[in-house]
Amino acid sequence: MSANFRYTYRIGHWLFNGQIVWGHQNSFKAPPYPGEDSLQRVVIFGDLGKAEIDGSNEYNDFERGSINTTYQLVKDLKNIDMVMHIGDICYASGYLSQWDQFTAQVEPIASTVPYMVASGNHERDWPGSGSFYGTLDSGGECGVPAQNMFYVPAENREQFWYSTDYGMFRFCIANTELDWRPGTEQYKFIEHCLSSVDRQKQPWLIFLAHRVLGYSSATFYGAEGTTEEPMGRESLQLLWQKYRVDIAMYGHVHGYERTCPVYENVCVAKGSDRYSGAFTATTHVVVGGGGASLAEYTAERARWSHAQDLDYGFAKLTAFNHTTLLMEYKRSRDGSVRDSFTVSRDYRDVLACGVDNCASTTMAS
Ligand SMILES: [Fe+2]
Repeated sequence: MSANFRYTYRIGHWLFNGQIVWGHQNSFKAPPYPGEDSLQRVVIFGDLGKAEIDGSNEYNDFERGSINTTYQLVKDLKNIDMVMHIGDICYASGYLSQWDQFTAQVEPIASTVPYMVASGNHERDWPGSGSFYGTLDSGGECGVPAQNMFYVPAENREQFWYSTDYGMFRFCIANTELDWRPGTEQYKFIEHCLSSVDRQKQPWLIFLAHRVLGYSSATFYGAEGTTEEPMGRESLQLLWQKYRVDIAMYGHVHGYERTCPVYENVCVAKGSDRYSGAFTATTHVVVGGGGASLAEYTAERARWSHAQDLDYGFAKLTAFNHTTLLMEYKRSRDGSVRDSFTVSRDYRDVLACGVDNCASTTMAS
């Protein structure tokens, strides 16, 4: 595959009588080469699910929002280069016909741009199956349909964590349904993914995971007296800080929320729609309002919670070049931008030392 080349293709079925039945002709553009300086636009959301316009054929009818999200993405497809669906893909819970409905719904997108996925609780979790959580959420799928329905460049697709490069972006995709804590294989992968990128060529370093390993105001975390998946940021914040992760994004909580640049619960910089200069701390974005019924937020607002929108929506990252990145959050009902920020940072700014991201120096010898 050569970078940026537009390929056209058709999928056919070879019948027993030797005849081939062909589908529609589609086309896609091969990705830019790692580090390429060109306009690159990546849409990110979690928890989409599927639904029928007429409400028919519903197994678990709580993903009506997915229709609007799918519609907005299809409508704007010529301005989208890649889609990342970060877990809770179709909520099939073991009913494979639901996967067929889901792939039919996203087919206009997935046939044209890379449709990348991450593992969520509704893909993987089942008691005694090796998942980090022993809930019934996958309905016994244990990740098998998700791993086979979609390609991910994972070394081990059962583990489902991987890194992927798209032009000036490096994405490190974790799997929150397997253990991520220090000492685990996944922790080593995360550190390797974050540390091995050449930021001069690929300045935009994005961490993705399904459950909120960073910060969330969801009431279901609040009820447990927490604002994250327990052992999430405690385990990983040193890595995000050390390797200067620009943005960490999650699903699982059905709605939108954005933090200030935050480290150890403290805003290292004021929440803003414009950041420039040296890295201060990672901005955490929850974008789990793809389509499944909305969550609720605690009445009390944490200091790190800079923006919230309890509606269906998705995020779009636009890398204009090596020094300017735009994050937009759009509502699915009308495509309107409800929150956004830009990051202007050149390579010297990435190298600059801030809180806990350079080796400490001492005069002692
Ligand atoms: Fe989830």
